[in-house]
Parts: sequence; structure tokens; C-alpha cells
Amino acid sequence: MPRTYVVTGSASGIGATTAQLLRDRGERVIGVDLRNADVEADLSMPAGRTDAAAKAVELAGGTVDAVIPCAGISAPIAKTISVNFFGVTEFLEALLPALTKSDAPRVAVVSSMASLQTNSPEMVEAALAGDEARALEIAEGLAAQGPQIGYLVYPSSKRALSRWVRRESITPAWAGAGIPLNAVAPGTVITPMTADLLKTPEGAAMVDASVPMPLNYHQPPESIANLLIWLTSPENTHLAGQVIYNDGGADASLRGDDIWSWADQK
Ligand code: NAI
Repeated sequence: MPRTYVVTGSASGIGATTAQLLRDRGERVIGVDLRNADVEADLSMPAGRTDAAAKAVELAGGTVDAVIPCAGISAPIAKTISVNFFGVTEFLEALLPALTKSDAPRVAVVSSMASLQTNSPEMVEAALAGDEARALEIAEGLAAQGPQIGYLVYPSSKRALSRWVRRESITPAWAGAGIPLNAVAPGTVITPMTADLLKTPEGAAMVDASVPMPLNYHQPPESIANLLIWLTSPENTHLAGQVIYNDGGADASLRGDDIWSWADQK
């Protein structure tokens, strides 16, 4: 029996590759995107999220086996927090009832190694508190200061998303319902999102300065898609709240070998 997957961002990049690989395996995919998808919706808007979830559940026939939200933007604008954080969390919450009907429900989201970068702690807190209006207000204030400061919205959205995954994954709604909820944090993936930046040596050098990738350098979308597919397969029974840095070694390069000393006795 094929499993039914809901994949957002299915029209491009990581989402499109994930959807294709799943279909190649004989699974059923309901794609969600602004255009060129089974469900066309704007996940930056609250109504877009709930409508998209309702339409996806209808197409699925009531039961959804897995959700892989890939839709995201990296622009230095306020909307980035709405798409990357609330467009994932509120969409997933709307799909929870349909997921709990599956025999092997799974969710894997796409965070980023950018979650390790400098960000806005106030925006992260507002997002985690579910306060989209406040998060947008902070994001607008940053975006108004130009693209360099405005870029902070992106790492903030991904830091908040990674924390949400850890926080929620162990609650009765997720772990208690038998749903592994995890994240993949990519390095620099070759997709339309990064195409402009990577097409000049200067652009690539700028990216590489903040995203060192000693293992195999820039990655194809398949490198992320295959991990998302395993995380959402029935084989994954016990992974909860993990943010897996599938990033050519960027996390290990930046954070070093000791990420555990927080637990040492002082
Ligand atoms: P992409 O630009 O190729 O695809 C993103 C898709 O999301 C597009 O089809 C777009 O239409 C859709 N989307 C954007 N806003 C939307 C909205 N409001 N409602 C519905 N759909 C919307 O980008 P890519 O590279 O495939 O990115 C996928 C995810 O991976 C994003 O969350 C991104 O932040 C993350 N990521 C990408 C990295 C990269 O280097 N490309 C690195 C780390 C994370």
C-alpha cells in the first residue's frame, strides 16, 4: 500500500526533488505550493495554511501518513518569518488530526545550518510564543534597516523552527501520538533559492565564508530529500526532536567537537 505524503514547496528545489523521489518509489504525494501544485496556497497567511491543510486532507481521503514541509524563503523581509516558521508550525498543527489516523505517522521539517547564525532572540521568542503579529513587527523593524540587518529574519526563523521541533516532539500531541517529529538542517544546497548567489565566484565565496563545507562542498537537493524520506518512513521509530545537520560538515566546523559541556558540573 502506498503511503500518502504531503510535501510543501513541491514546485521547486528540495520539495520538488523529495516529491519526485517519493513518487518514483510508488508513494502518493500531495504537493502544496504557491503555483504548480496539487494544492495551491499561500502559506505566509493564516487562512492559506488552514485552507491548504483542509484541501490536502480532502485529497488524501482523511488520512495523512507523513508531512514534509519544505516551503521557505530566504529574503531579508518580514514575510520570511511567516513562511518559514508559522507556515510550517500552523500547517502541521492543522494536519495533526489526519496524521493521527495513520498507522505510521511521521513528520520531518527543513530547518537550516543558518539556525546556528546570529539572529534576533526577541523574534525567536515571539515565534515560539505563537505571536505572529509581534514576530512580524520585529521582523519589519529589522527589514527596514536594509538587507544586511534584514537577513537576520532568516536565521531567526530557522532557530525558532529547530527549537519548536525539539520542544514539540516530546509532547503528548507528537511523541504521545506516536509521531516522530524531526528536522534536517542543510548547508548550501544547489536550488533556485541559491542559484543567483552561487553563480559568481564572489557570491559563492561569501556563502562559503559563513557555511564551510569540507565534505563534498555544495550539495544537491537529493542529499536532503533522501534523509527527509528516511525520517518519514516507517523505519524511523525512535528519533524525536533531532535537528540533523546534513551540511557537508558546516556544523562540526562552526561549533567544534564539544557541544556537550553545557551538562558538565561547574
Ligand atoms: P526553492 O526556492 O527552490 O523552493 C522553495 C519553494 O517554496 C518554492 O517552490 C516556493 O514557491 C515555495 N514557497 C515559497 N513561499 C511560499 C508560500 N508563501 N506558500 C507556499 N509555498 C511557498 O528553495 P529550496 O532551496 O528548495 O528551499 C527549501 C527549504 O530548504 C526552505 O525552507 C529553505 O529555507 C531550506 N534551506 C535551503 C537551503 C539552500 O541552500 N537551498 C539551505 C538550508 C535550508
